[in-house]
Amino acid sequence: MSTTYRTAVVRTPGGPDSIEIIDVPVVEPGPGQVRVEIAGAAVNPVDLALSAGVFHGLGMIDQPDHTGLGWDFAGTVAAAGPDVDLPVGSRVAGLVDGFDRDFGTYAEQLVVAASDTALVPDSLDLATAATIPLNSLAAAQLVDLLGDGGGRSLLVTGAAGAVGGYIIPLARDRGWRVTGLARTKDEKFVRSLGADFTAQAARGWDAVADGAAIQEQGVALVRDGGLFVGVQPGARPAAERGVTVLVVVAHPDGARLAQLLDATASGHLPARVHAVVPLDQVAAVHRAVAEGGVRGKYVLRP
Ligand SMILES: NC(=O)c1ccc[n+]([C@@H]2O[C@H](COP(=O)([O-])OP(=O)(O)OC[C@H]3O[C@@H](n4cnc5c(N)ncnc54)[C@H](OP(=O)(O)O)[C@@H]3O)[C@@H](O)[C@H]2O)c1
Repeated sequence: MSTTYRTAVVRTPGGPDSIEIIDVPVVEPGPGQVRVEIAGAAVNPVDLALSAGVFHGLGMIDQPDHTGLGWDFAGTVAAAGPDVDLPVGSRVAGLVDGFDRDFGTYAEQLVVAASDTALVPDSLDLATAATIPLNSLAAAQLVDLLGDGGGRSLLVTGAAGAVGGYIIPLARDRGWRVTGLARTKDEKFVRSLGADFTAQAARGWDAVADGAAIQEQGVALVRDGGLFVGVQPGARPAAERGVTVLVVVAHPDGARLAQLLDATASGHLPARVHAVVPLDQVAAVHRAVAEGGVRGKYVLRP
């Protein structure tokens, strides 16, 4: 067995061309951990921001050598720590969080807490499973902040995006009357999730869930005294007119992820893979995502 594995990192951030693929030593899982052979890692906006140096600029990263890319993954368990009862070969998906780390999921391997992973249902392929952890957990944890809707109105911005597309069904489950704000071409998708659709919204919503990260523009759409939940922890928009402003920060939760994977397998939550692309093409994929308009996630295959 090789003593090293390949992973994509950034040393000096500067956009897609600053991403390097390097070899690093294989790590054995400790107590409570598994080593996963990664089959796919989704490309998310946070990864583009990392390689562009946004988080370095905010002083959130202090790595001596390099910073790892990638938050979510799916793959198979290659080794398990002494107290972990996940058999080798188990198909799992999961999320690693935090910005300041020298490892990521754009890699052949990952050592991660077993409790941060969940078994992938048989009916989901690993590429699809790789698209689920970060954005479904972010949506579920955002809906926790919204609480029960009781028939109140909720506008979901970026309703055709990954986070927005999960928020719609999860918020409907909690009794919100949901409208999705998205591009005109996305109307069919948004309505398929059971939401009303708008391509242009005016002020007056009881709550706004900001999957498009339009920030202050989203706060402006909330009625006086309503609720706004954003998705940019590093840039919370200012409150106005008595609007409560909250921000979600997605965190790993294996038990919750298991429910979200099941809800995707049953068709309750959307599953959207844009394309599966070799890890070597990571820079081209980042450039494509930066242009916007992509629906479904690119998945990198190491
Ligand atoms: N806080 C957290 O824990 C957390 C976790 C996950 C994601 N996020 C953040 O959540 C945001 C969404 O991520 P994602 O993966 O869902 O991205 P995504 O799949 O690209 O979705 C964003 C969607 O918003 C649409 N959009 C952007 N501006 C719009 C506007 N003015 N009107 C209507 N639609 C608009 C985009 O359409 P076009 O492509 O046509 O522009 C796209 O469909 C990102 O900022 C990401 O960093 C935060």
